[in-house]
Amino acid sequence: MKSLKKVLVVSGSSRANNNSLKVSHHFAKYSSEIFDVQIFDGRMLNIFDQSRDEIETVLATFRKKMHQTDGIILTTPEYNGSYSYLIKILLDHLSYPCEMKAKPCSILGVATGKIGAIKAIEHLQSLCLSMGGICMPDPVSIGEVHHLVDKTKMDMSEKADYLKPLYGKICEGFVDFFTGR
Ligand SMILES: Cc1cc2nc3c(=O)[nH]c(=O)nc-3n(C[C@H](O)[C@H](O)[C@H](O)COP(=O)(O)O)c2cc1C
Repeated sequence: MKSLKKVLVVSGSSRANNNSLKVSHHFAKYSSEIFDVQIFDGRMLNIFDQSRDEIETVLATFRKKMHQTDGIILTTPEYNGSYSYLIKILLDHLSYPCEMKAKPCSILGVATGKIGAIKAIEHLQSLCLSMGGICMPDPVSIGEVHHLVDKTKMDMSEKADYLKPLYGKICEGFVDFFTGR
């Protein structure tokens, strides 16, 4: 049997009970029959409460996962019209040449505002391009995320089902990329 391509979902919020991680799991659940999906929870890196050695260990783990993956999904909250500091710190600690180089990347942007995370996505796309990632054309901007999550567990409510065809577009783009279509 042919092995599935690896996709790493990087969840970019450091907040407890954050929505980015719920969205990351939602996407992972949707795409797990198409790809070998892993989630990197950005909270593993806690620069305010870890020793230098612990930080280096987390960053090395992150680099290894980014090296081993075939495709990348970055889930970012929109903070003040941009992506999160956590995503920037993680990506700034990749190697040169970068582990993202020539790999397909897409973005799930999470916000409470009605228009979603369009600024965060726009800024992060620009960063990905600078790092040699291949930005795929169908990022997903998720507005009013607080109405879509299940507040009691690591899940989304049924109201988030409308996202599934949008996740499907991302997956389709990745499959086309992997198969050279
Ligand atoms: C510092 C900060 C800035 C924010 N700025 C925006 C913003 O510019 N636009 C918006 O729609 N929501 C904004 N929000 C709301 C977040 O997008 C929302 O809380 C989202 O759930 C954050 O994702 P997280 O739960 O994964 O951290 C902001 C939240 C914080 C904490």
